[in-house]
Amino acid sequence: MVCLGNICRSPLAEGILKSKTNHLDVVVDSAGTAAYHIGEQPDIRSIAIAKKYGIDLIDQRARQFCINDFDDFDKIYAMDTSNYTSIISLVRNESDKDKVDLILNEINPKSFQSVPDPYYGGDNGFQDVYDMLDEACDRIVEQIG
Ligand code: 4NP
Repeated sequence: MVCLGNICRSPLAEGILKSKTNHLDVVVDSAGTAAYHIGEQPDIRSIAIAKKYGIDLIDQRARQFCINDFDDFDKIYAMDTSNYTSIISLVRNESDKDKVDLILNEINPKSFQSVPDPYYGGDNGFQDVYDMLDEACDRIVEQIG
């Protein structure tokens, strides 16, 4: 799960997908395309909305997306089109490229819609982000479960 800062959207996506895949042998992680927040906990608003649904993000720490992630993961979900472009700029081959998709394409295939960046908005933005990611993660689990 990849966003820009790895403190708002992708930590939530990581927490939601982990909560839905406890019973499966999958590794879920998140990262940011930017380095601004490396080592930080998720935004308190992401922690709060996750907690509302019984999901704990407290132990997460922001890290930057890196080339090795193409080797370590089968799917790489970008939260928005800018993150998508940043990740695609790093691919080494077609196999890397095939792993990358926008997460909302799981709900509406090939729609290339973005999860809006909630960083500068109010708490409602985080509820909207949660709802989108929850539905997208349900679609992902349907495929891998
Ligand atoms: P995220 O949100 O990409 O969902 O983690 C943001 C977090 C920080 C910034 C931008 C977006 N920032 O500009 O610091």
